[in-house]
Amino acid sequence: MSTSFASNAEIVEVGPRDGLQNEPDRVVPTEVKLELIRRLADAGLRRIEATAFVSPQRVPQMADHDAVMRAAPRRPGVRYSALVPNLRGFDAAMAAGSQEVAVFGAATETFSQKNIHCSIAESLQRFEAVTQAARARGIPVRGYVSCVLGCPYEGAVAPAAVARVAGALYELGCYEISLGDTIGVGTPGKTLAMLAAVTERVPVKHLAGHFHDTYGQALANVYAALQRGVTVFDASVAGLGGCPYAPGATGNLATEDLLYLLDGLGIATGVDLGALLEADRYICRVLGRGTRSRVALARAAP
Ligand code: HMG
Ligand code: MG
Repeated sequence: MSTSFASNAEIVEVGPRDGLQNEPDRVVPTEVKLELIRRLADAGLRRIEATAFVSPQRVPQMADHDAVMRAAPRRPGVRYSALVPNLRGFDAAMAAGSQEVAVFGAATETFSQKNIHCSIAESLQRFEAVTQAARARGIPVRGYVSCVLGCPYEGAVAPAAVARVAGALYELGCYEISLGDTIGVGTPGKTLAMLAAVTERVPVKHLAGHFHDTYGQALANVYAALQRGVTVFDASVAGLGGCPYAPGATGNLATEDLLYLLDGLGIATGVDLGALLEADRYICRVLGRGTRSRVALARAAP
């Protein structure tokens, strides 16, 4: 069987947000986040999720959202985004100069309650307020669906449940729906079944894959999604991260490993692996921990 892939793909770098939001040991200084963002932009990443305008009590690592968004180095072609759970977060993101925002819902009621303290239906009402305000200002809104391949509280998740929430976000005006395997339990077969249901509600060109790598399946899931026509993938430099409301989840797929796969398939992204590996070394050195990127480990080997 021969498979043809798109000639280009987009990488959405979520390390400064998803990667650092759960950092357990100490609060990461704002200057470190800004230096990381600068290096990621220098590596050619054009879409960077810089921070989250959420409650500082709930996610202390994102408490400096305002300072990070204001000072992130503006470069032609680089777009900074931030998570916003409600209108208050949206207003704060706008005041700080965010060029894009992302609302974040879930496919299961329990995860929605634990993560954002409301039901799925209530979350969609909050998001509608955000999409309306964003439309009035010409700001693009991305929509996340969490737990698309499994939930830490409810277990298996039906593809139809994912499709309902993804479809609702698309109808609210989200230009792209990022499908989150929040706890990294998915496998390629499940990814394809989930995508089959979602693409009945949302055209595949408006979908993105957001795979955490807890079980080492993230790259395989990307490959499955590529075959299904998805061309936007979220990733986190050095594989940093996890979700504070998803016990046991490890980081996103490492950006370096995603890039190595895409480069190997001849799919252009505009991102430079060498510069990305330098960003990996920088953040791992500052955090005092090893990288989770297999490519970075291989390149570091003597
Ligand atoms: P709430 O607790 O339902 O509402 O918050 P509340 O109105 O009771 O507010 C609680 C406190 O938050 C109050 O402060 C509010 O003022 C404040 P207090 O009176 O206690 O001092 N507050 C805010 N503060 C800053 N910015 C705001 C804001 N709104 C209210 N925008 C809320 C609702 C959603 C804000 C809260 O539950 C929260 O911040 N949750 C954290 C959610 C979060 O960041 N989760 C991690 C990111 S999601 C993720 O990682 C998954 C993803 O990567 C995809 C995947 O992998 O699946 C995206
Ligand atoms: Mg995530």
